[in-house]
Amino acid sequence: MSNVHTVGVLTSGGDAPGMNAAIRAVVRTAIAKGLNVKGILRGYAGLLNEEIKDMDSRSVSDIIQRGGTVLYTARCEEFKTLEVQERAAQILRKHGIDSLVVIGGDGSYRGAGALAKLGINTIGLPGTIDLDINCTDYTIGFDTAVNTAMEAIDRVRDTSTSHERCSIIEVMGRSAGYIALWCGLANGAEDVLLPERYDNNEQAIINRIIEHRNKGKAHHIIINAEGIGHSASMAKRIEAATGIETRATILGYMQRGGTPTCKDRVYASIMGAKAVDLLLEGEKNKAVGYLDGKFQAFDIEEVLNSSKDIPEYQYQVFQLLSGYRKEGDV
Ligand code: ADP
Ligand code: F6P
Repeated sequence: MSNVHTVGVLTSGGDAPGMNAAIRAVVRTAIAKGLNVKGILRGYAGLLNEEIKDMDSRSVSDIIQRGGTVLYTARCEEFKTLEVQERAAQILRKHGIDSLVVIGGDGSYRGAGALAKLGINTIGLPGTIDLDINCTDYTIGFDTAVNTAMEAIDRVRDTSTSHERCSIIEVMGRSAGYIALWCGLANGAEDVLLPERYDNNEQAIINRIIEHRNKGKAHHIIINAEGIGHSASMAKRIEAATGIETRATILGYMQRGGTPTCKDRVYASIMGAKAVDLLLEGEKNKAVGYLDGKFQAFDIEEVLNSSKDIPEYQYQVFQLLSGYRKEGDV
């Protein structure tokens, strides 16, 4: 007999568009399969405060199209200690919650893994705009965020071209360069500065700007990841060194909010349903990923085993298409 009766669901870490679709899928799949569902508000912080409510099908009506998370999210530093994790497991048991779906990034997965060790059947869903989770080519929110950033950059580019300026556009990603790299490719940028690759060689950036200008290029778009940062001071230094008007634009949280794309709604829905199915199959301490064209389950430990790098080939394609690499370089 299955030991899964009541499933808790929470969102943790940075919010991401599509989290609501995942919550809805968890709730409705669980109810359809005869389970109870409880929503835990404000991530692990809310769990410790016992902010727990019963969920039914109606409680997730009208949310699939909304960005953010209806369960709210939070960061909770104290959850990193064993003592606090044990208290959380006790609280879950007190509320009859034997199984938990955690929607969040790799930090949230660490918390999920800890609860699994304490006997809670735990499944993680990759919820982050950063795409920086191992064992998956997709994370909930990345598609929306990168499309939002791409559209914003197109707009900045119009002004940049009209004024023949250089533009540094900062996108999110503290330690992950996926949004920056994809915008570099999608927006036809001249340069991308990625936390995984940037060598702090500002002079090389300046040289490329001058070279492009000498070839007659009207604008110069540099996509800078948040993890590199300092876009405003970089713009000042570039303007001083090149004599070309240079402006910095920081896109910020506009990339994290907003209505999720079709892909984020659909993939998040499938992942939410898959989490419940995995629990019913007796799985625990797993994370759902989309890899090799399939939704699959991986051990949380395997997912957390190493940090994810950006694909070198994608970076090389960017360099080639932006004219960054010359013939014979590759
Ligand atoms: P994300 O889940 O998006 O990577 P964070 O890294 O901020 O975001 O982690 C979210 C939350 O997950 C943290 O506030 C904390 O509650 C929990 N968490 C992070 N790291 C650990 C850890 N090593 N052990 C247990 N819980 C953790
Ligand atoms: O993980 C998503 C993300 O938006 C990162 O790209 C960013 O570095 C981080 O969260 C910022 O989080 P906050 O400002 O909410 O602490």
